[in-house]
Amino acid sequence: NKGKYDHYMQKEIHEQPESLTTTMRGRLIRGGGSRKPKTVLLGGLKDHLKTIRRSRRIVFIGCGTSYNAALASRPILEELSGIPVSMEIASDLWDRQGPIYREDTAVFVSQSGETADTLLALEYARENGALCVGITNTVASSIARKTHCGVHINAGAETGVASTKAYTSQIVVMVMLALAIGSDTISSQTRREAIVDGLLDLPNKVREVLKLDEEMKDLAQLLIDEQSLLVFGRGYNYATALEGALKVKEVSLMHSEGILAGEMKHGPLALVDENLPIAVIATRDACFSKQQSVIQQLHARKGRLIVMCSKGDAASVSSSGSCRAIEVPQVEDCLQPVVNIVPLQLLAYHLTVLRGHNVDQPRNLAKSVTTQ
Ligand code: UD1
Ligand code: BG6
Repeated sequence: NKGKYDHYMQKEIHEQPESLTTTMRGRLIRGGGSRKPKTVLLGGLKDHLKTIRRSRRIVFIGCGTSYNAALASRPILEELSGIPVSMEIASDLWDRQGPIYREDTAVFVSQSGETADTLLALEYARENGALCVGITNTVASSIARKTHCGVHINAGAETGVASTKAYTSQIVVMVMLALAIGSDTISSQTRREAIVDGLLDLPNKVREVLKLDEEMKDLAQLLIDEQSLLVFGRGYNYATALEGALKVKEVSLMHSEGILAGEMKHGPLALVDENLPIAVIATRDACFSKQQSVIQQLHARKGRLIVMCSKGDAASVSSSGSCRAIEVPQVEDCLQPVVNIVPLQLLAYHLTVLRGHNVDQPRNLAKSVTTQ
């Protein structure tokens, strides 16, 4: 049931304040005073946290949007756990028969819980003796059943082939996973409590960023006849660049590529001219000054920029050259990818409708890829 919406993708983008609330329900402990810190409770993991903390490595495994969600959560998991976190696209792990050890925790991220490549990688990791953790949306799905333990993201059924609300709920669950693993570390308590506060307020911030709908429709109108869109990000928002580009290409059928801004000079800079539209994610975090210098260098080559920045920064990021700014509310750095993806989801949606393509069933794609 699409309710008041024209398409499922549109409905699922707009219901993210509610799906995020459901994802967090019963899992955030507000605490009280210095003796009861604010923390998280993940029922499916509580008996396994000790084993996870002892693992030598955490390996994230997934495909498509689920892989991107894991990538968005990697920095905070590394920070709060102190454990090396590596990333695997499920098919690539299998193709290489990459090493997986008993001392590894392998985290399988899948909305449907039925993706063939992810399932195959799960069987492989189990055979190699790793602790297998699932992050799934579908209760009783194959991945939920075959993992040793896990967390349901509880985002509600997702119908649009392009994943939107599952992506933001997956990130929130993996940030909570990082908080749970790190919860025995006194030195990070203040940081962890700030993130819990950030999570509690996140649905409001997503509600705020959804107000950019009309602005994104105007932007889509400007981009309607383009051949390509590049998206530059780094740090927490490298994943946002990959996921924003994935949304644009899978539904609007426009070529789009997410680029790690730190790699700009190693190839992508050659593409920059006054015609190719480039979105740069430059919200406030530890990478902000580096992104400012990326923007300057793109300006110097007359790049046609769309800059996503924190509220109040529009004037400073677009002070030189031709540039359009999209201001988004600022949240805790590790939660910023949840806010930042929303305008790009809206852009992909409007581009698709304006270009006359099928939003909910893009050509050649399936919601759940159950064959290799
Ligand atoms: C569970 C109940 C929830 C109830 C809550 C009350 C289910 C599905 N969830 O939620 O209805 O309100 O207790 O305390 O009955 N699991 C995997 N792999 C996965 C995902 C989950 O093995 O990919 C396992 C977990 O380890 C856990 C079980 O499935 O044993 C349920 O997980 P989850 O729904 O996340 O647990 P709770 O949030 O505690
Ligand atoms: C398909 C979907 O390609 O599978 C994507 O169209 C999804 O939206 C990908 O990200 C992985 O699916 P899942 O269910 O394992 O998260």
